[in-house]
Amino acid sequence: MITFEGVTKTFADGTKGVDNLSLTINSGEFFVLIGPSGCGKTTTMKMINRLIDPTEGIIRIDDNHVQDMNIHKLRWNIGYVLQQIALFPNMTIAENISIVPEMMKWSKQDIRSRVDELLTMVGLEPKTFRDRMPTELSGGQQQRIGVARALAGNPNIILMDEPFSALDPISREQLQEDIRKLQKEIKKTIVFVTHDMDEALRLGERICMMREGAAVQIGTPEELLNNPKDEFVKQFIGSRAPKDTQALSEQTIKEFIQHNHDYLSSFIQTEDPSLQMTVNEDGALDELYYQTKKYPNEASVSVDSTAAEVYSLLQTYDLPALPVTDSDKLVGAISYKDLARMAAKGSVMN
Ligand SMILES: Nc1ncnc2c1ncn2[C@@H]1O[C@H](COP(=O)(O)OP(=O)(O)OP(=O)(O)O)[C@@H](O)[C@H]1O
Ligand SMILES: [Mg+2]
Repeated sequence: MITFEGVTKTFADGTKGVDNLSLTINSGEFFVLIGPSGCGKTTTMKMINRLIDPTEGIIRIDDNHVQDMNIHKLRWNIGYVLQQIALFPNMTIAENISIVPEMMKWSKQDIRSRVDELLTMVGLEPKTFRDRMPTELSGGQQQRIGVARALAGNPNIILMDEPFSALDPISREQLQEDIRKLQKEIKKTIVFVTHDMDEALRLGERICMMREGAAVQIGTPEELLNNPKDEFVKQFIGSRAPKDTQALSEQTIKEFIQHNHDYLSSFIQTEDPSLQMTVNEDGALDELYYQTKKYPNEASVSVDSTAAEVYSLLQTYDLPALPVTDSDKLVGAISYKDLARMAAKGSVMN
């Protein structure tokens, strides 16, 4: 558990980076700090591992005042992923990941197996990547190394300062999914900074909305969406405000597509070449084949079908995907993978 009690940071020139901030981050929680540029996110983060010391107030980890803790031990126990990933250019990937374990004087063998374990964990094949130099990796791969390095010493707390902001949307979404899965598996406390509301809603168990060094509202994504505390929070949330919270299984394909324009394409074509659909001259589904076996036209759903109906039909016909129609016209197909996406995004997007 990390607690801030009335924490203020006034810089030498009088700027208040953080202003009387009080909050509690629970152990094992995915906690997101969000807010406009200059609102104090990085300053808040850096006070946890004492890269910056507060001018007023107290920060505790569990029951220990961070100011009283041994600074090396404190930092070893806190992984830190910087916004601009800075791998040491003249060290191999393995050496970059091993920095903290080396300092902690782990055995060579333990370090080697930890490096391979971490590379696997972040989705990079150890044999291929272990001995490469940082310049031989793509930006997204380097970012993954940054995450691996932060996890290397097996810290209980991981601070991530806009770790994915430099990435393209696809790598970014992939890494978001990976880090969320990872956090569920390894149950670390993660403090994650972003100024992207979609990212905050997707990842955060709780979100702290900051403005001018203070916390404006702290709550779950649903709480922020349903009860934004003021105009500022409302504006930050933008057009995502929901009507009523609706069960995912009740959500229709159409509603999901309307809220997730970027996913439309995945419904339009099946990735499974063994599913074949033909249309008649009206554009309606004519014949459906899966692995050369013919299926009845009832093995399809409409854009007004709910996720629950899609799931049930996928099971009934034991198909990997189903044709989707809109006003009797074939518009695409929906697969288990698409349902998983609806489940992953739907809960905050409905
Ligand atoms: N060393 C410093 N001296 C003076 N002012 C500083 C210093 N570091 C940060 N600040 C100021 O403190 C405020 C908070 O900065 P901080 O870096 O925490 O913002 P941030 O929320 O992380 O912003 P961004 O989204 O742009 O990264 C800003 O007004 C910034 O200019
Ligand atoms: Mg910052």
